[in-house]
Amino acid sequence: MTNKVLITGIAGLFGSNISRYLLMKNYIVIGVDNFSGGYRENIADGIILYDVDIKDYNLFNQIVKKEKPDYILHFAAYAAEGLSHYIRNHNYSNNLVATSNVINAAINYDVKKIIFTSSMAVYGEKYNPPFTEQMIPMPIDPYGIAKYASELDLLQAKEHFGLDYSIIRPHNVIGKYQNIWDKYRNVIGIWIRQMLDGQPLTIYGDGLQKRAFSDIYYYCEPIEKLLYDFGGEIYNLGSDYNITIKEAMNIFRKCALNFGYNTEVVFLEERREAKYAYSSQEKAKSMLGFNDNTDLEKIISEMIEWAIKQPKRTVKKMKYEIYKNIYSYWKEEL
Ligand SMILES: NC(=O)c1ccc[n+]([C@@H]2O[C@H](COP(=O)([O-])OP(=O)(O)OC[C@H]3O[C@@H](n4cnc5c(N)ncnc54)[C@H](O)[C@@H]3O)[C@@H](O)[C@H]2O)c1
Repeated sequence: MTNKVLITGIAGLFGSNISRYLLMKNYIVIGVDNFSGGYRENIADGIILYDVDIKDYNLFNQIVKKEKPDYILHFAAYAAEGLSHYIRNHNYSNNLVATSNVINAAINYDVKKIIFTSSMAVYGEKYNPPFTEQMIPMPIDPYGIAKYASELDLLQAKEHFGLDYSIIRPHNVIGKYQNIWDKYRNVIGIWIRQMLDGQPLTIYGDGLQKRAFSDIYYYCEPIEKLLYDFGGEIYNLGSDYNITIKEAMNIFRKCALNFGYNTEVVFLEERREAKYAYSSQEKAKSMLGFNDNTDLEKIISEMIEWAIKQPKRTVKKMKYEIYKNIYSYWKEEL
């Protein structure tokens, strides 16, 4: 029997890539997105699409009631961790309260399982990386708090109603269909947009922050496995290969040069962010057979090739709720 999967955030990085994989494997895919962060051009043929905001409790319930999906992949969120301090209300309503709508509908209409994309942001800065799933989360920003609260809510939905779930905590995932017009997140995406717009490439602080970037391609199989097994568990997913932002910039500039772009680099005011942030994937490796073999040069080149063909778009501007202590490079919007 063909399985029906409902994906929230279908137009984003995860939604666009995972939906293509599932369509290829003959799943029926229902997609929901309000296009606040993803684009219609990202939607694959064959998807039953609802242009709906998941914050709308009634509309989302109606979709789940009508479509009766077997599984929900809940990817929709606004994932701007650093900015979340300045948009607390939007962050909690879009990332936490909206998640409660998804969980309610899943319970009401007997969805077999929810896969929830949490984030490495839940670990905060209390621990030294690599972060492991045994560490008790201590998030340091509203984005991480919303993700952790959603995790706890899923745990209680399972205890109380038997709704099965799997939680993944990814970090620094990149690939085609990523929003490159959002200056508040995704360093590789920001550099591609700056390069195409003829602007200098920016680095926050000294560039010695360490991150591990991973190609979304390596998430497809493990996420499909999670539909059927390994419920009630949390898995870090990411690359083991961590590098400094400066090193990532060197790789990026090499790729950019191959496309004829030789763009200068400027250093901006330091951000309040974890200097070293990456996780251990041992649990996902042993349980899910997760095997991230990201080739950064290859995936950046694929992203540039894709980005060159995209329509010209304006850079996203968010309405700030708090103006205090806002970084100089975001101040221009006051
Ligand atoms: N990409 C990463 O590195 C990363 C890392 C950790 C966690 N995550 C989490 O994974 C999930 C997917 O991330 P992504 O990179 O694909 O993000 P993305 O921004 O590319 O995609 C999110 C999609 O959700 C949609 N959306 C947002 N709010 C919505 C709402 N209220 N109603 C309907 N649609 C809405 C957006 O329009 C967008 O298409 C998110 O929950 C994110 O927090 C991503």
